[in-house]
Amino acid sequence: MIELKDLKKSFEDKAVLKGVSIVMNDGKCNLIIGSSGSGKTVLMKCMVGLLKPTSGNVLYDGADFVNLNDKEQKAIREKIGMLFQGGALFDSQTVEQNVMFPLDMFTTDKYSKKRERVKQVLDRVQLKEDAYKKFPSEISGGMQKRVALARAIVLNPKYLFCDEPNSGLDPQTSMVIDKLIHEITREYDMTTIVNTHDMNSVMEIGDHIIYMHQGEKEWEGNNKEIILSDNEKLNGFIFASEFLRDAKAMRTIQETGKIPENVQGGIKDAIEEKFNIDIDKDGHIGSPTKGNVPPKE
Ligand SMILES: Nc1ncnc2c1ncn2[C@@H]1O[C@H](COP(=O)(O)OP(=O)(O)O)[C@@H](O)[C@H]1O
Ligand SMILES: [Mg+2]
Repeated sequence: MIELKDLKKSFEDKAVLKGVSIVMNDGKCNLIIGSSGSGKTVLMKCMVGLLKPTSGNVLYDGADFVNLNDKEQKAIREKIGMLFQGGALFDSQTVEQNVMFPLDMFTTDKYSKKRERVKQVLDRVQLKEDAYKKFPSEISGGMQKRVALARAIVLNPKYLFCDEPNSGLDPQTSMVIDKLIHEITREYDMTTIVNTHDMNSVMEIGDHIIYMHQGEKEWEGNNKEIILSDNEKLNGFIFASEFLRDAKAMRTIQETGKIPENVQGGIKDAIEEKFNIDIDKDGHIGSPTKGNVPPKE
């Protein structure tokens, strides 16, 4: 479990994180969403120690990371896996060497043992042996992400951080990567934090979603609750397109049997027409009354 307590970060006089408190549980994908510049990357960097927070606490299973000594911080860092934006593989190293790098850095294992572990994680991300000797430039973007994910989990981390893991990928490949992250999180009971602005990810793997707005936690919930939320800022972010707003209205009707209050007349009329129903002034759906009613014998 990772807990943030009133985390603040300013650069000179610019407040980027304005007191963020979040509890992130094990075995879950915690998704941080929000528009560009809302503070997602800064938040993640403060959590892993790449930036020092101005104030507040980051607790790893109760241990206050920011205020630990170097040795204690290192012990926690060893339990952190990171999937950086863009993958950040070493261009001059093969797939296998890239994944072995953390083992070379942090273990004294023999080559054969390291080789075995590398194969294990590359198998886990479904990368075949014919890719092992290739260089990053010789494989597709999706494969590069798999390699980066394999490298992030090779030390068997307890905490996994992924900053925009889908940047530069097509929607289908993104989905494969998302599912892998989700499965691995559950399999190893990791606490996973994913920064994303990809709504597909949110719906597919969002066990716990945190919406950041201008450096503050504006909303949190799961992927069912997000559809029904009436938080205006959140809805403005997610349902930027009219199509998605309509889809949300439909979903709310399915879930509640009631048309959402903030749906304007236009959609209400369209829904009545399209689904052959009447919606009363309180938003309740009545029995079909218009058109298509089968004639009585
Ligand atoms: N090292 C830095 N120095 C000054 N400002 C920064 C620094 N890093 C990030 N910022 C500012 O913090 C804000 C949040 O950035 P970021 O966390 O990267 O947003 P996001 O990841 O949500 O797109 C931005 O306005 C950005 O310009
Ligand atoms: Mg970012």
